[in-house]
Amino acid sequence: MQHILVVGGAGYIGSHMVWLLGQRGIQVTTFDNLSGGHRDAVLHGELVVGDMADRALLDRVLSSRHFDAVMHFASYIQVGESVTDPAKYYLNNVANTIGLLNAMRDHGVARFVFSSTAAVFGEPQYSPIDERHPRQPINPYGRTKWMVEQALADYDRAYGLKSVSLRYFNAAGAHPQGLLGERHEPETHLVPLVLQAAAGRRPHVTVFGRDYDTPDGTCVRDYIHVMDLAQAHWKALDYLARGGSTSAFNLGNGDGYSVQQVVDTAMAVTGRSIAVQEGPRRAGDPARLVADASLARNVLGWEPQYADLTTIVRHAWQWECRHAGGTWA
Ligand SMILES: NC(=O)c1ccc[n+]([C@@H]2O[C@H](COP(=O)([O-])OP(=O)(O)OC[C@H]3O[C@@H](n4cnc5c(N)ncnc54)[C@H](O)[C@@H]3O)[C@@H](O)[C@H]2O)c1
Repeated sequence: MQHILVVGGAGYIGSHMVWLLGQRGIQVTTFDNLSGGHRDAVLHGELVVGDMADRALLDRVLSSRHFDAVMHFASYIQVGESVTDPAKYYLNNVANTIGLLNAMRDHGVARFVFSSTAAVFGEPQYSPIDERHPRQPINPYGRTKWMVEQALADYDRAYGLKSVSLRYFNAAGAHPQGLLGERHEPETHLVPLVLQAAAGRRPHVTVFGRDYDTPDGTCVRDYIHVMDLAQAHWKALDYLARGGSTSAFNLGNGDGYSVQQVVDTAMAVTGRSIAVQEGPRRAGDPARLVADASLARNVLGWEPQYADLTTIVRHAWQWECRHAGGTWA
């Protein structure tokens, strides 16, 4: 029986991962300080409430049993905040992650799956973006993730720590049966913002720029279902268990959808009108960010199951309906 430590497992993507591991009969310990996560999102295994910066607690957890691998979802995630408060991001996303890696090394845990991001690429030089695309992040959030990816290559060379970095494009959707979903505070992601506008919990959704070089002028992004992300992590664990080398993989559908298409799809799924406010372009927002995920398909054997935008939005709406008016409203 395998036992996995899921750091950040009470958050949006991590909680879906913990649930999937439970379905696969894997024992799980979730380690989360609940700064952005939720105790009731941990549906399997034990939850240790603690901070990655607490090395003594990490030591206690890692010496309490044998862990086959660590999955690391814990970080701060807001690009804008990373620009205004980079110290917060370098401390948590880089320094605390290095502390976690050092604890793993000292306790002999040699497999690591890391939540990286499309933000490591910066301004796209071509599309779709494959793994060879230059890594030139344009904000501190992206730089923190790229720094960790580089540290992981060094930790493999020096300490033999094998890792997979998964570069998510735009995570979206929710558990297909409505058990889990996105609960960020503040919410900055398009799908929940649009659905909260549909539910009347926001007056409108803002579209930032209509003059991009895209079919309808709004930004195009690659939305990837949260369960498909969890499935890719599962495949990454298997890859490492089979002796796979330290690698990075892009995760997306390879289909881009515009902001306007997301709004239109949300109106069709919910049957409600959604007020749109026009805003100016945001600095650092590329016109198009779409993944070439063929490496993950070929090497990990990963295949997205919920690639269709309508399904992604329908699952997110089911979650929104179930939780509207709840404690996070
Ligand atoms: N959501 C996306 O679209 C997206 C895209 C690309 C990459 N990512 C990455 O995926 C990961 C998960 O994202 P998410 O949307 O689930 O975020 P989230 O905020 O919902 O989850 C992160 C979790 O980490 C915990 N955490 C943060 N700092 C911690 C610390 N010092 N000690 C212990 N726990 C801590 C939080 O409490 C939270 O539960 C992040 O690393 C993020 O950068 C997310």
